[in-house]
Amino acid sequence: MRVQMEKEGIVWPMDVPLLRTITTTFNAPESKLLINSFFMPKVFYGLAGLQLFVGSMAQLGRKKAFIVTDKGVKGLASIVEKALRGVGIEVKVNEGVEPEVPLHVPRQMAEEMSQWGPDLIVAVGGGSVMDTAKVSWILYEVPEADLVAIDPMKPLGLRKKALLACIPTTSGTGSEATNVAVVHDESVSPARKEGVLHPELYPDFAVLDPRFVVRMPKDLTLWTAMDALSHAVDCYLCRSSNPISDALAVKAIKMIFTYLPLVLERLDNLQLRLRMQVAAMIAGAAFSNGGIGTTHALAHNIGAIFGVHHGMACGVTIPYVIKFYAEVDDKFLSLAEELGIKGEGREEVLRALLDYFLAFYKKVGAPLTMRDLGIKEEDFKAKEDLFVKYALMDPTGPMAPRQPSYEEMRQLIEDVYYGRV
Ligand SMILES: [Fe+2]
Repeated sequence: MRVQMEKEGIVWPMDVPLLRTITTTFNAPESKLLINSFFMPKVFYGLAGLQLFVGSMAQLGRKKAFIVTDKGVKGLASIVEKALRGVGIEVKVNEGVEPEVPLHVPRQMAEEMSQWGPDLIVAVGGGSVMDTAKVSWILYEVPEADLVAIDPMKPLGLRKKALLACIPTTSGTGSEATNVAVVHDESVSPARKEGVLHPELYPDFAVLDPRFVVRMPKDLTLWTAMDALSHAVDCYLCRSSNPISDALAVKAIKMIFTYLPLVLERLDNLQLRLRMQVAAMIAGAAFSNGGIGTTHALAHNIGAIFGVHHGMACGVTIPYVIKFYAEVDDKFLSLAEELGIKGEGREEVLRALLDYFLAFYKKVGAPLTMRDLGIKEEDFKAKEDLFVKYALMDPTGPMAPRQPSYEEMRQLIEDVYYGRV
């Protein structure tokens, strides 16, 4: 397999020393006994969540808050601005976030932060806003940091100047509870996608107020929820998962199965919206501590190669990846048990579990194949080789319970395209 990959010019993720160290540490049962950690932000949630948050910030003696946001959610950012001013905190707002986080934006924001000196950074928005805030925070605290070479095994030195709070306006990425930010480095052409990952990057506070997501349109509500579902399912099945991430992942899966169909019928219901916010946040906390695998190795490339929304791309992969892992690993049996799914023997349980997911997809109207996403067969065929190569190179690979060969990955990708599950 290695020879074949080298011939294809593929970098085997386990050849990257840092990834090998992290993965080995994550996965060895002995290490899990000795070294383990679980990080997540302090969470304020519900209709009084924002008020509780700003009250706590005043109690902590925070004086200057820098709000990172974009023009699309300006109105929501001004609610936060007013609440912070109400407890005597000075506020500056920068609404210049751009989609995909081109690096010049956080650089410019960090510059503005350095001139003004905030002791609190508040992100109000979706994934790109939260990622921009995380990267701006790094550059504000450690201006000399080389973003593409941050070593998660070494201290970074955040929180000497400011704390970070995230107030998400979508319910899916879970970025409010993760230690990752994705940026685009435009100093190279075409711009290169870079993941910045560090344990210090977990936000200090997450605020889940249903008023901030209640206006999300129906399609975005579905897409982002499918992203959250993939985080929870994949994390549970990954070899890097742990008892805490398992507990959160199972709860998130159950909440999404229960509340997503209801919220899609009643988009303005704050109770239902809040439950989906909590599900997405705990799914984020689960995968950033317990790992994520092949759903995202595929989805990153369905997004990059075919321009599909990340959530929808993640959504289509889930049943296929469950089946793919099940060919070599048994953890799907305990997922089925958690969900109350029964059957006589391994194969029957797997079939029942897959049918349970397929019925859910039907119920919420989620696409189930790459073809359903509108990708034409000739386009798929033309880019299939590239897709297989990139999926094998994805950094999520080593956390998955199955390390596929080139042919196995191609087979999986074709199954997702043609709907063989
Ligand atoms: Fe995701």
